[in-house]
Amino acid sequence: MERNESGAPPFLFGRRIVLGVTGGVAAYKAAELVRRLVKAGAQVDVVLTPGGAHFVTPTTFQALSGRPVWCDPWDERRANAMAHIDLTRGADLLLVAPCTADAMARFAQGQADDLLATLALARACPMAVAPAMNRQMWLHPATQRNRERLVADGVLVWGPAEGEQACGETGPGRMIEPEEIVARLEAFFAPKWFSGHAVLVTAGPTYEPLDPVRVLTNLSSGKMGYALAQAFAQAGAAVTLVSGPVSLPTPLGVTRVDVTTAEQMRAAVLERVPGHRIFASVAAVADYRPARVSPQKIKKGAERLTLELVRNPDILAEVAALPEPPWCIGFAAESENLDEYAERKRREKGLQLVVGNLVQEAMGRDENTVVLYDENGRIPLPTADKVQVAWGIVRHVAQRLGLIDTAVERGDL
Ligand code: CTP
Repeated sequence: MERNESGAPPFLFGRRIVLGVTGGVAAYKAAELVRRLVKAGAQVDVVLTPGGAHFVTPTTFQALSGRPVWCDPWDERRANAMAHIDLTRGADLLLVAPCTADAMARFAQGQADDLLATLALARACPMAVAPAMNRQMWLHPATQRNRERLVADGVLVWGPAEGEQACGETGPGRMIEPEEIVARLEAFFAPKWFSGHAVLVTAGPTYEPLDPVRVLTNLSSGKMGYALAQAFAQAGAAVTLVSGPVSLPTPLGVTRVDVTTAEQMRAAVLERVPGHRIFASVAAVADYRPARVSPQKIKKGAERLTLELVRNPDILAEVAALPEPPWCIGFAAESENLDEYAERKRREKGLQLVVGNLVQEAMGRDENTVVLYDENGRIPLPTADKVQVAWGIVRHVAQRLGLIDTAVERGDL
């Protein structure tokens, strides 16, 4: 698999995906899905059922995938008329999105009455479906039977989501969004270095209240912590994310605990940390909080107002000093002297790893430039988006903990 320098494998790069599109309104979302997959470097061969072709034309998919689109089992573009076998030969995954109730029924029965159903039967690769249908069709015992049958046959069933439907009703049956399908595909292809391990992550800022309407806080967006939680989860870990106030969606498969103040974050972390192999303290915890919280809104009056602040507990230092501490990762956001301060933090707090960066290069941005500091010295990672940087960190930790099977990684096995 190709890798960029940060050690983050682009999990969809070079992957061969056969995408079946069946006849549901959500077929229009499959166009967006193809665009995202191609952007991520995947090769996408689209197979349209006759129903799917009613909703979106082959031309749309051909333009987006840059490859021929297949509809007919007797397509003469395959010299040996073996499209049903050729297409999934060498494919990494057969994905059906949207997957109608009828398609689910035919896959569950093992029918082979159109090109897609035949491919599903003749494949050697894994298969995933993203159901999309009216809520009553989804809840019907026949569809539920088919879902169970498919799961028992090893098919991954992704969704459906709940919400407003094209028919005007509300309930389960919407196809999960293309973005979530891509996240699931990335998780599917990611190496499972951390399976069987639990990881606790903190992220975001804390709010330290002054009065009922005012807080002291900082500019942390939470993006780095969320990206790290997601990368650990995709790498197979059971991840708990203790999050300060941010406006970010919870990464797929991550258990999120929302807190507001540093003291709440400390309590949430100390309660959960036993049993966790790794603690990644990415939160920008406020070092100080107001000594007094006014029960009423503070009214303006004097020309000057002095706030008295008291120190907050250092959550990371406390966790690292536990009798049986997890493997601790700290973050050092500095505005100068990065090497000196980051290394000092690692030693003084007794951490296994410190991820250092210069604040002016990270705060609120999607990209980050970090340096890793551990007992072996400093390892700079290349500037990359926070998702790639997160994978660079995850890979480094997996190496340090001896979780990467280098022979498998090289492709020898
Ligand atoms: N941290 C923490 N609890 C605090 C403060 C920080 O857990 N009360 C964690 C952060 O999540 C981060 C690391 O400690 O992993 C940052 O170290 P720290 O020395 O506290 O950094 P700053 O707060 O930036 O400290 P300084 O102002 O001394 O640079």
